[in-house]
Amino acid sequence: MTKNKWLEIDEKARNVLLKNDRGGYTVPTPNLYPYQWNWDSAFAGWGFSTFDIERAWQELDTLFAGQWYNGMVPHILFRRNDPDYFPGPEVWGAKGHGPISSSGISQPAVAATFVREIWEKDKSTGNVRLRKIFPKLLEWHRWFMKWRLSEKNTVFISHPWEAGRDNSPDWDDAMEAINPFDVGVYTRRDTSHVDSSMRPTKEDYDRYLWLVKRGRELEWDEQLMSKNRPFEVADPTMTFILLRACRDLLFMAEALNFDSAEISEWCTKLSDGIETLRNPNGGFFNAINCLTGAHSGNITSASFLNWYAGMHDEKTLEILAKTLEEINYPIPSLSIDSEKFDGMRYWRGPTWAILNSLVGLGLAEMGYLAEAEILRNSTQSLIAEHGFAEYFHPINGTPGGGDSFTWTAAVWLAWASPSNGEH
Ligand code: DGY
Repeated sequence: MTKNKWLEIDEKARNVLLKNDRGGYTVPTPNLYPYQWNWDSAFAGWGFSTFDIERAWQELDTLFAGQWYNGMVPHILFRRNDPDYFPGPEVWGAKGHGPISSSGISQPAVAATFVREIWEKDKSTGNVRLRKIFPKLLEWHRWFMKWRLSEKNTVFISHPWEAGRDNSPDWDDAMEAINPFDVGVYTRRDTSHVDSSMRPTKEDYDRYLWLVKRGRELEWDEQLMSKNRPFEVADPTMTFILLRACRDLLFMAEALNFDSAEISEWCTKLSDGIETLRNPNGGFFNAINCLTGAHSGNITSASFLNWYAGMHDEKTLEILAKTLEEINYPIPSLSIDSEKFDGMRYWRGPTWAILNSLVGLGLAEMGYLAEAEILRNSTQSLIAEHGFAEYFHPINGTPGGGDSFTWTAAVWLAWASPSNGEH
């Protein structure tokens, strides 16, 4: 790629972020996702940090402005009403738990890691800004450790949307066990924005909504919801990401001379839990249905997040080498060898720049520079050739889901573009 070409893509990526800006926060993409989403915003902050540090902080500040009084940071902040999205605030029925109308679940804890990235770039106001946001990050992590830690010290999800990998086959078994008998009649909006072959099925949606209904009826009271949970799946995305985020939080606590003992304990606990996510047959990290103990048996992009969490793993390295031999594009959300592989359907096969950037960061930090470079280069070609789609077919690169997507543009700017500082 010529320098002119990549500078042109940099400019386009900045424009995606600016166009998706709704005044201090960004939407993931117009129409399909018209509100502020949790981990999307954290990625947006990382993207903004490459050209507007103040705006980067603002993105994280607006996200944490919606933090619940119990510490949870919701997965969606419904900042202004948009009937184009379903399920909206009325369906969630989560009023009064926090200062901004929101959903009732959270999302992967990438924020502390991107706060660290922004803080390290901001030599002038960094410490002042960090001091303000730090207690909020701490409260959020404390909420995870209180309400989402399984007996085996892994992080579980209470709803598939909490992992961000909405319709991953990782939850199939737990989802099948739910009988969404009284979910009622509803009209989806997602399939009016993108083709239904790219979205979760009606069977999935019935269960998503049934779980939302349960939360609403229990008034999103974590104590009540924790009794007889109908859905509880220990997830490698949540566990590796929270472990990484806790390590970054620890680093920042030490730099600010804050007490860090509690955060150290969290790191130890989560590190201890990781091994239980290992599939006994294949040796890879996978999800576990906490209600039955069943391993999902799926190799997903989350299976490769161990380096991001600071953990070496020979077996995963072997599987990574095989995966990279099989396809020219970066790691797919489900192994192409799986019977369930579906290259365009959301989290059941497509490749996502965000997950690949996290895996790539981890690999590079732990000395696997060649593998990190393969992931980065293939993500670079994918975006350069196919644009800022939500995700891509992992074999032929066809763009899928929403377009002009904030986090794909952010990943381009902060990681994949040849312009970014590290390369
Ligand atoms: C959706 O509406 O598909 C979102 O992913 C839920 O968070």
